[in-house]
Amino acid sequence: MAKVITIAQQKGGAGKTTLAAHLAVALAQKGNRVAIIDIDPQGSLTHWHRIREEKLGEGYTGLVFSALSGWRIGSEVSRLRKQCDFIVIDSPPHTETEARTAIRAADLILVPVQPSPTDVWATKATLDLAKAEKIPVKVVLNRVPASSRLAQTIAAELTDLADATLGSRVLFASSLLEGRTATELEPTSPAAQEVKTLIKEVLALVKDKDEEAPAKAAKKELAEA
Ligand SMILES: Nc1ncnc2c1ncn2[C@@H]1O[C@H](COP(=O)(O)OP(=O)(O)OP(=O)(O)O)[C@@H](O)[C@H]1O
Ligand SMILES: [Mg+2]
Repeated sequence: MAKVITIAQQKGGAGKTTLAAHLAVALAQKGNRVAIIDIDPQGSLTHWHRIREEKLGEGYTGLVFSALSGWRIGSEVSRLRKQCDFIVIDSPPHTETEARTAIRAADLILVPVQPSPTDVWATKATLDLAKAEKIPVKVVLNRVPASSRLAQTIAAELTDLADATLGSRVLFASSLLEGRTATELEPTSPAAQEVKTLIKEVLALVKDKDEEAPAKAAKKELAEA
């Protein structure tokens, strides 16, 4: 059964689509079957996937793609859950209703935030939504400048912060323009490294408790033997 990761943030331009594409591709590169769902009427992720199809060939993007309006999410997620390992949902800014549906469907919510006061203030609404639905949530600092004290000050203001952060790097934008991502085009770049670090953290967060159980039991058995 697939794990659903929703990228949500009411503030526009925080990096939702950039994060969704990078997360999906990085998970697929690890051998997972990954679906992406675009519920943003702006269709940025849809646009990216279309370029990806042009470059790599239809059916060869390594991702299952769907675009739909938010209220249909529940049924689409139930359908895709059976055939995928991960579902990544990119959601629109400024709409509480759509965001709520996408948040409800999730096993983990990632909230990209740029290190600026207004972005941080806007984040509370998304965090409150996630908390109200009792879904695990992590805030991902995005577009962090190379040397900025501000980012640290801002980080101190935020709760539920992921350890991983994404820097302000041209490759995050330029790779999307080609229908690709940083981890594909420049796997050893700092941008790609940051994505890989984030993926590790994400995988640990969505790991099944029941997957851990047999391993723990085996360890205990060994210790007792
Ligand atoms: N880490 C980054 N480094 C450099 N540029 C970035 C980074 N993250 C996002 N961007 C750029 O910031 C802009 C907004 O990013 P993106 O479209 O992913 O945000 P969004 O939250 O999906 O926006 P919207 O709310 O409109 O859907 C884009 O031009 C994108 O290329
Ligand atoms: Mg977007």
